[in-house]
Amino acid sequence: MQGNFLLLVGVLGALLVDAATTSLDGIYSLVQRQIPQHQNSFTFALIEGDGDSFVISDTHGDSGGITIECTTVSACARGLYTYVTRYGGVDIWWTGSRLNQLASPLPSVGEPVNGSAIVEYRYHFNTVTFDYTAAFWAFDQWSSELDWLALRGVNLPLAWVGYEYILIEVFRDAGLTDAEIASFLSGSAFQAWNRFGNIQGSWGGDLPTQWVNDQFALNQQIVARMVELGMTPVLPAFTGFVPRAMARVYPNASIVNGSQWGGFPADLTDVSFLEPFDDLFATLQMSFISKQQAAYGNATHIYTLDQYNENSPYSGDTAYLYNISLYTFDSMRAADPEAVWMMQGWLFFADESFWTADRIAAYLGGVENNDDMIVLDLYSEAAPQWQRTNSYYGKQWIWCELHDYGGNMGFEGNLPVLSTDPLEALYSSGSSMKGMGLTMEGQEGNEIVYDFLLDQAWSPTSLDITSYVEAWVARRYPISNLPSAAQTAWGILSTTVYSNSNSDTQATIKSIFELAPSTSGLVNLTGHHPTEIPYNTNTTIVPALTNLTLAATQNPTLLTVPEFAYDLVDVVRQLLANRFIDAYEALITEYDSSSATAASVTSAGQPLLDILTILDTLLWTNENFLLSTWIADARALAGSNATYADYLEYNARNQITLWGPDGEINDYASKQWAGLVGTYYLDRWQTFITYLADIKHNGTAYDNTAIQAQLLDIGKEWDTQIWGQQAGESWDVVGDVMTVVNDIVQKWI
Ligand SMILES: *[C@@H]1O[C@H](CO)[C@@H](O)[C@H](O)[C@H]1NC(C)=O
Ligand SMILES: *[C@@H]1O[C@H](CO)[C@@H](O)[C@H](O)[C@H]1NC(C)=O
Ligand SMILES: *[C@@H]1O[C@H](CO)[C@@H](O)[C@H](O)[C@H]1NC(C)=O
Ligand SMILES: *[C@@H]1O[C@H](CO)[C@@H](O)[C@H](O)[C@H]1NC(C)=O
Ligand SMILES: *[C@@H]1O[C@H](CO)[C@@H](O)[C@H](O)[C@H]1NC(C)=O
Ligand SMILES: *[C@@H]1O[C@H](CO)[C@@H](O)[C@H](O)[C@H]1NC(C)=O
Ligand SMILES: *[C@@H]1O[C@H](CO)[C@@H](O)[C@H](O)[C@H]1NC(C)=O
Ligand SMILES: *[C@@H]1O[C@H](CO)[C@@H](O)[C@H](O)[C@H]1NC(C)=O
Ligand SMILES: *[C@@H]1O[C@H](CO)[C@@H](O)[C@H](O)[C@H]1NC(C)=O
Ligand SMILES: *[C@@H]1O[C@H](CO)[C@@H](O)[C@H](O)[C@H]1NC(C)=O
Repeated sequence: MQGNFLLLVGVLGALLVDAATTSLDGIYSLVQRQIPQHQNSFTFALIEGDGDSFVISDTHGDSGGITIECTTVSACARGLYTYVTRYGGVDIWWTGSRLNQLASPLPSVGEPVNGSAIVEYRYHFNTVTFDYTAAFWAFDQWSSELDWLALRGVNLPLAWVGYEYILIEVFRDAGLTDAEIASFLSGSAFQAWNRFGNIQGSWGGDLPTQWVNDQFALNQQIVARMVELGMTPVLPAFTGFVPRAMARVYPNASIVNGSQWGGFPADLTDVSFLEPFDDLFATLQMSFISKQQAAYGNATHIYTLDQYNENSPYSGDTAYLYNISLYTFDSMRAADPEAVWMMQGWLFFADESFWTADRIAAYLGGVENNDDMIVLDLYSEAAPQWQRTNSYYGKQWIWCELHDYGGNMGFEGNLPVLSTDPLEALYSSGSSMKGMGLTMEGQEGNEIVYDFLLDQAWSPTSLDITSYVEAWVARRYPISNLPSAAQTAWGILSTTVYSNSNSDTQATIKSIFELAPSTSGLVNLTGHHPTEIPYNTNTTIVPALTNLTLAATQNPTLLTVPEFAYDLVDVVRQLLANRFIDAYEALITEYDSSSATAASVTSAGQPLLDILTILDTLLWTNENFLLSTWIADARALAGSNATYADYLEYNARNQITLWGPDGEINDYASKQWAGLVGTYYLDRWQTFITYLADIKHNGTAYDNTAIQAQLLDIGKEWDTQIWGQQAGESWDVVGDVMTVVNDIVQKWI
């Protein structure tokens, strides 16, 4: 590399600067955090050039090392990632960073290697990820997450944490009392839907002041880190959703109600919406954005703002919709002259019958310049809306992979679509697509499909799936003499489970054992929460599993690789989840047969309970599948305040079970975690099987309302328990994975 390519860039004193940072300090800090043994071996330098590009080369001179030149800080991070993955054979995963295993001396690259992003924005997060996955994260978890993102080249992440702190100040200034504000805010695990104006208020206790303050302080660290890593944080704005009491203070304000949502009772939904053409809206927007700017500096001009996410507009009149967005955007521009409005495009899919082409055009049309808005085409891999909206009528938009609802954990993916559809959209004529990114509701499992899309964002041609998966597996299990059976296992999964072309099941597959038991309505569901298994378990999961166990036998070192142990548990988990369906269908067949007795039903129910029991035992062997982690993270935020910790634990439990005081969105965010499967799900199925047997014994009729009420009560009780107070509730892993896997293989394969 020629020295004159290097452009000396002065170190900026402040971390928070207007527009993307040009300081490389954040990248050097990342190296220090992740690859400390090589902290003096990397040289980064900014060069001039369009877009986000990097060049990796061997550093000239005696000391060796690697030089990465880049046009942006984000591109430098991506250049580093390209080096460590392609030449170093290591990676950073959701299960942990293995970058500290990078070899010494550093492998050289020989001929310099270039890379460029094919899109301006690489985006990450859904508003609800902040609850489904990150609700109880402390800064160390955020730090790992942001390194994961930065290295993959993400430059546009959402930053919702701590939103309420400033919102409360805005409401106080507007004359609302603390009690009135408290009655509006939702619980610590449910803030996303309050921010969307879907719900208001709390169950299980008001949002504690300490939570509000601590989250705000946390976000100051998060935003600073994002900026330092070359990302533009997307901060919130004032949406228009207000406490009911706003009408007390401003009786003449134009306030309407949003819609009823998710089966919640009126006091928890029908959220008041201050219409943007009311002067008060602009006043509150000015108040919000200027306070936010004072808190975070000029870290961004891009604001996330959703008014109609699963929330119907007061009127469908196109002039009204135009009026709403016109005044909304005016208010943003008055507060920040460079404001850009980012919107989740979920509404256009979820409420497609309301959002006709005319209405979408009117609503987007209130923002005059196309560059002043970014629409997230939220579910591009399965239900893209950009075609029917004519590329969002010219507005900037981002091709997003949603894939995971509620942090559910079943296997599913469509690598062929990820390798072709974003490129087709980008290269289509008249396209205003400007980015690619991830909008998963929860970050849980199926990691390969997310890696794949973020990598496709740096390749102008379709990634070759076979060689991609091979390289991915090789660095996921970075041991010498990796048995080929490990590659075979992933070859099977990537061409079947992760090449799912069944259009009815384009999202993580939910397991029926996570649903409230019933004699019907569980199996073969399609659409939003599919339970239909779109592949043949016996010719996919089974050989993948036996190939993984063969690999572990051939080279036992594999079991010390955390990602291998994770994948092994995950594949066996999926086997049991699928076998449960067969056991369930056998139970129902027996129950429906004319010869059924209490004893025969009890006996047909036993395999279901056996599966849940052994699954729980399996999950206990791996730290990534523990309910106790979710609860421990929540409680840790309370320090020594037990009242506060209990409040947080209730929120943590309720989200993954009843999701509402009375099971309003029951089991939406269900998880396959040790301590949840073996207590809650097992209890429900035990209760259900006993109920079916009792029916045969008593000669009574099946009463779905009665049994569902009984199951709901189990949930209400479970949600208020405190972890560690029941027998067998450990905080840490229990048991040896291979012992449990061998037991399962013998019985359930
Ligand atoms: C790689 O980057 C260098 C420096 O910007 C440039 O001169 C060269 O043309 C690039 N090569 C390719 C193949 O893009
Ligand atoms: C509301 O409007 C009424 C009628 O125009 C007016 O009399 C009243 O003063 C207004 N109240 C406030 C608080 O502005
Ligand atoms: C909003 O809904 C609440 C509760 O359903 C109701 O009391 C109130 O009158 C409604 N407000 C408007 C403006 O429709
Ligand atoms: C943000 O930028 C504006 C305009 O450049 C400037 O007046 C203001 O002081 C900056 N605010 C902060 C907190 O840096
Ligand atoms: C927007 O709606 C308000 C309330 O109906 C009305 O006063 C205003 O004139 C409208 N503005 C435009 C530009 O349509
Ligand atoms: C579910 O689908 C499978 C495969 O098509 C079929 O064998 C089974 O009978 C179906 N079960 C129910 C309850 O619909
Ligand atoms: C799959 O294998 C199991 C266990 O050997 C067997 O009971 C089942 O019938 C097989 N299912 C299919 C669809 O072949
Ligand atoms: C590994 O997978 C291949 C391909 O499906 C299969 O033929 C083979 O039997 C599997 N090996 C083991 C040990 O299960
Ligand atoms: C403990 O937390 C509760 C609930 O948030 C709060 O009301 C109380 O003031 C806290 N106690 C202390 C000593 O901070
Ligand atoms: C069956 O009868 C027993 C004893 O009377 C009673 O406790 C139970 O609730 C009954 N269950 C059903 C499902 O009929």
